[in-house]
Amino acid sequence: MPCTVIVGGFFGDEGKGKIVSFLAVKDNPKIAVRGGVGPNAGHTVVFRQKENKLRMLPSAVINEDTKLMIGAGVLVDPNVLMREIELFNAGGRITVDSQCGVIEEKHIEKDRSDAYLKGKIGTTGTGCGPANVERIMRTGKVCREIPMLAKYVGDVSYQVNTAISKGETVHVEGTQGTYISLYHGTYPYVTSKDVTASAICADVGIGPKAVDDVIVVFKAYVTRVGAGELPGELTEQEAEKRGWLERATVTGRTRRSAPFNYQLAKRAVMLNSATQIAVTKFDILFPAAKAAKEFSSLPAEAKKMVEKIEDETKTPVSIISTGADTEATIDRRKELGLL
Ligand code: IMP
Ligand code: MG
Repeated sequence: MPCTVIVGGFFGDEGKGKIVSFLAVKDNPKIAVRGGVGPNAGHTVVFRQKENKLRMLPSAVINEDTKLMIGAGVLVDPNVLMREIELFNAGGRITVDSQCGVIEEKHIEKDRSDAYLKGKIGTTGTGCGPANVERIMRTGKVCREIPMLAKYVGDVSYQVNTAISKGETVHVEGTQGTYISLYHGTYPYVTSKDVTASAICADVGIGPKAVDDVIVVFKAYVTRVGAGELPGELTEQEAEKRGWLERATVTGRTRRSAPFNYQLAKRAVMLNSATQIAVTKFDILFPAAKAAKEFSSLPAEAKKMVEKIEDETKTPVSIISTGADTEATIDRRKELGLL
């Protein structure tokens, strides 16, 4: 499909990085463009046994033929971005929109010292909230003012819309997750912007009619970092026993966890107009599913869960992740007639 948007369906950390990087290799998009809040996101991409952690670049970075872009709605931390550009040698294929907001040291300091943000909300401390405050006040800097970024700055919405109108494949990567959306999440325990599919499109500068598919990503269980409700939350001991205890990419904090939540999944499909579902970490829930590449080789209980998700959400589960490596993925799009 020419334009596919990929978003998180729970509280972030659903494994979007893994799904997006798989699709980047498989579908070979011309452009991968990132929407979302900013460097508060941490995406882990494992490709050819190498683990990559990304906070600013699109997770499609592993496909060297794909042009990488960052939409105008995304906050850029120039230091984090420059480090990743160097690390992935991406300088020749990255465009940052000239109007991306800039995170400065003062924003990071505020995010880390403010009693409400740090103490009550439990933010990632990456400066996103305070930088978005300045953006709304119209006092914040934008990327075209930063000399260090001059050679990477361009008109992302124009390039993305031009590619879409030529029928080229474009992947739009969301960050965070539906229930930490400023508008639709568990307010006030949320991030500083809406992060549902429509907001991700607005970040990039494409309208609703430009989108062909919305893939919402769920993990096989639910996790959450920071404060706020988590229905069915397990004790840390129980999470550890089940192998669900995770550590956050950006902050190193322990993630809280709970079983898969069908109610939340159903609502996330609605809020994002999802046309497809991707489910990750199936190998953690069903060890016999580890590294499976065919639906038919999944254990019966795993297949049953897929059917239940489809029944409850009335949406096809088209991609199933069965391991951290990009290759450990079941792609059902063809057999379901979705390609
Ligand atoms: P902020 O986005 O740093 O302001 O943090 C606000 C809330 O959103 C906190 O509970 C964070 O843990 C959470 N959050 C922000 N970004 C992510 C993410 O990428 N994954 C998971 N949680 C996130
Ligand atoms: Mg993450």
